[in-house]
Amino acid sequence: MKLTTTQPTPSSQSGVAAAADGGLQGSGRDMRMNIVHIGAEELNYEIRQIAEVAGRIQKMTGREIYWENIGDPVQKGEQIPTWIKDIVSEAVYDNSTYGYSPTRGLPEAREFLAARSNAQGGVQITPDDIIFFNGLGDAINKVYYMLRREARVIGPSPAYPTHSSAEASHAGYPPITYSLDPHNGWMPDLDELRNKVKYNESIAGIMIINPDNPTGAVFPREVVTEMVEIARQYDLFIVADEIYANMVFNKQERYATIAQLAGDVPAIALKGISKELPWPGSRCGWMKVYNQGTHPTFQKYVKSILDAKMLEVCSTTLPQKVIPKILGHRDYPAYLAGRNAFYKKRSDRIAEIFADCPGVIVNPPDGAFYVSLVFTAELSSKMNLKIPDPKIREYINALTPDDIEPDRKFVYQLLASRNICVVPLSSFVTDLQGFRCTLLEQDDERFEMIYASIAEAIREFLAS
Ligand SMILES: Cc1ncc(COP(=O)(O)O)c(C=O)c1O
Repeated sequence: MKLTTTQPTPSSQSGVAAAADGGLQGSGRDMRMNIVHIGAEELNYEIRQIAEVAGRIQKMTGREIYWENIGDPVQKGEQIPTWIKDIVSEAVYDNSTYGYSPTRGLPEAREFLAARSNAQGGVQITPDDIIFFNGLGDAINKVYYMLRREARVIGPSPAYPTHSSAEASHAGYPPITYSLDPHNGWMPDLDELRNKVKYNESIAGIMIINPDNPTGAVFPREVVTEMVEIARQYDLFIVADEIYANMVFNKQERYATIAQLAGDVPAIALKGISKELPWPGSRCGWMKVYNQGTHPTFQKYVKSILDAKMLEVCSTTLPQKVIPKILGHRDYPAYLAGRNAFYKKRSDRIAEIFADCPGVIVNPPDGAFYVSLVFTAELSSKMNLKIPDPKIREYINALTPDDIEPDRKFVYQLLASRNICVVPLSSFVTDLQGFRCTLLEQDDERFEMIYASIAEAIREFLAS
């Protein structure tokens, strides 16, 4: 039967409304049916939204903004070594880098990555267990998009929102989470995880980000082993985002990849070059699949991800072409070690700067390049930072109604009063109040100034 606006589908909310007012909504016409995806409300990426407010303030004041919000080392001034640029330049002159590549990715890149993964020990893979994507964001979306609607993946809280949003959007329900505890070095609450898995039969997978964004925590092998045990007991699969796997700068000996720990449990490890090279603009990431051969349903699911990728033809070719040459280069380990030493220096200094700052907990990061500070003091809607410029004050006041999350208010006011842009922790799927910053500032003096200024703002806010 052909549907018209006067014959609404029973499930169409806007169609029902349209029938009630004769097909018109207010002064305009609405759609035949509700075309908005059931999970649309779950899509939220505050990390970039806050940048828009910062850009507006920059325009209004003409003052420089200190961008502590975005995890792009290139944007923060990290220089790409000449030997990497030489390899990329050479690839630019190779005609084949302008063509499509196989859907899974170039065989030589997958062979190289499979051999590296296998050399670490643990579950062994073949090049066909690797699929390339247009950045890890693309892989993350496919992981959740291709899951059956009822199948849920429990993830950490706080969490990098691309995972939680994509998962929640696929399900049409808010994310299901296990807590990372700031009072326990951001370690996962394994009892909570076990209980939620036990009592919620829709949970089909466990997601872990290790090293973690936004906390900078590195979960040691015994913690991940327990998570694997839970997965094994309840026949779940694991999604391990390991984009920061080679960026552990404290207690490296405690870290292990999911390949080393998964045993016979089906798992997907997600990797990429956005942070490690760093080359986020390459839009290049990949998925490594473990134990699909022994788990037919998991294998079918992975095949559906590959089939979805096939509809897009392939992922970016040039980065795949240069990955073996760059990651396999003799200078690569020293280059990475140098960057990690820099982040360690920043992490150590953050521990010192906030050691005696009242009202916040700081767990200095062990990996990745983020730190999340959590307010322990009770926050109230009466707390404020002074914003001297009346125009900026008015603009920020309009963005911060009384019922706004207090950490969001702190973040907006920090931006308005000190031009420092950080991200509220409440936008990382958590009830915790706080904010995330990065360790990426290249200039020592600016770094000191920014973090001293943040510490001062915390004191002012809590005392107000
Ligand atoms: C944990 C994590 N996974 C994935 C990504 C996205 O990476 P890509 O640039 O490859 O899409 C990020 C980016 O910040 C991240 O922090």
